[in-house]
Amino acid sequence: MHPDQIMTPEAYIESLYPPDPVLERVKKGIRDNGMPEISIEPGYGRLLTLLVRLMRARSVLEIGALGGYSGICLARGLPEDGRLVSLEINPEYAEIARRHLTEAGYGERVEYRIGDAAESLRQLRRENARFDLILIDADKLNYPRYLEEAIALGGPGALIVADNPFLRGRTLDPNRQGDAVVSIREFNRRLAADPRLESTILPGYDGLCLARVRDDAVLPE
Ligand code: DHB
Ligand code: MG
Repeated sequence: MHPDQIMTPEAYIESLYPPDPVLERVKKGIRDNGMPEISIEPGYGRLLTLLVRLMRARSVLEIGALGGYSGICLARGLPEDGRLVSLEINPEYAEIARRHLTEAGYGERVEYRIGDAAESLRQLRRENARFDLILIDADKLNYPRYLEEAIALGGPGALIVADNPFLRGRTLDPNRQGDAVVSIREFNRRLAADPRLESTILPGYDGLCLARVRDDAVLPE
């Protein structure tokens, strides 16, 4: 690096960590398959592993699998008998994600549910499924709905994590009023104001929302 070049905090943090061949392999798989290169940022991937472990989570849900990058980060924090349910609308993406998790040694821990996430979430509710930690990282138009479902499927004590609250800066630009950014702003406002949640938003990378469902939260039926 040039001596007078100032790094971003994200680049500096990244420079501290050794390479992660498993996640590098996933990124290459995503590139080689022509998938969008929008996996969760590495610093937040490490945070996901930490959060799953700190929560002693045994049951984790992710909404949006893409190529399995976040899935591996979540699975890394799970105990041997822990389980990850991963919702993905694109069957080809789910297949690639499954392959990546299997290569990483977590094939037995993950269940992919392919289809519209809103429908899969309704189905999980019918099954009375419960999750200790829920990651929201799918289509931005449905973020407000996913928040509601995550609160119901998590229940008191659950941790809800959501990627991309800044939408690559669009959220912060009042001139941007597209559907996705309007939806994300609504999601962020609800996360901050919902009396059932204790929350914060981390500003690094594209932002990350963290919310814990309060112990006394009254849940929807
Ligand atoms: C983008 C990034 C994401 O992580 C995501 O979930 C959706 C979109 C993006 O950069 O466009
Ligand atoms: Mg994302």
